[in-house]
Amino acid sequence: MSCFITFEGPDGSGKTTQIQALYDDLVGEGYPVLLVREPGGTDIGDQIRAVLHDVKNVDMMPNAEVLLYSASRAQLVGQVIRPALETGKVVLCDRYAESTMAYQGYGYNLDQELLKAITTFATGGLRPDLIVYLDIDVEEGLRRKEIGFRRGKGEWNRMDQKELDFHQRVRSAYLRMAAAEPERWFVVDATHPIVSIQDSIRKRVKRLLGEKGIGRTVRSHGRLGEEGGTNEAHR
Ligand code: TMP
Repeated sequence: MSCFITFEGPDGSGKTTQIQALYDDLVGEGYPVLLVREPGGTDIGDQIRAVLHDVKNVDMMPNAEVLLYSASRAQLVGQVIRPALETGKVVLCDRYAESTMAYQGYGYNLDQELLKAITTFATGGLRPDLIVYLDIDVEEGLRRKEIGFRRGKGEWNRMDQKELDFHQRVRSAYLRMAAAEPERWFVVDATHPIVSIQDSIRKRVKRLLGEKGIGRTVRSHGRLGEEGGTNEAHR
């Protein structure tokens, strides 16, 4: 039995902080967990990430962007995520296919059906059991991200430079996707205190793990790199 959980949100929603907190909690409780991120998470994917996020690459075509994000995803799914799921791990992924639907699909208004086909090709049809979505007003999110970046936290990448309308389309797309599949999406208000967000995500995830019959396998008390937890996300 395995479980695949992804985190999504507009830029600056705090999802990276939250996914790390969930990872630490689950490892601490002895669950076999793997944490990865997109784009990247493999050596090849990290090289693709560098091209995608280089602020100099302002000329990148939207279809080239889709294919690069999808190439990074194909590598991550094939090389890391599927093998981990096959050994019964709980896989946490910071962004996944829904980012492509929201950012490229709705941000650029591309053909949704075509994007779904490309995504299915890249992932072999692997979909998350649960998508944790941290919702935030896009101006507030970008403001938070910029403040964090100035303080030496996180990166300011090519996508952050897109106009406000682009980011607003991304957020509406997320909200629409979440409303269409409420059993798969867990929507959290990212303006709530960090600890209460952490608590509600933990409860939702523990419920899912219980439903899937996934138990603790390791008597670890959770430092990164110990048996049971593997953090590939922020190498
Ligand atoms: P992050 O690592 O701070 O979440 O930044 C990743 C950026 O890449 C973010 O702006 C969203 C963007 N992105 C896409 O546009 N499409 C995708 O498919 C993925 C995975 C990310």
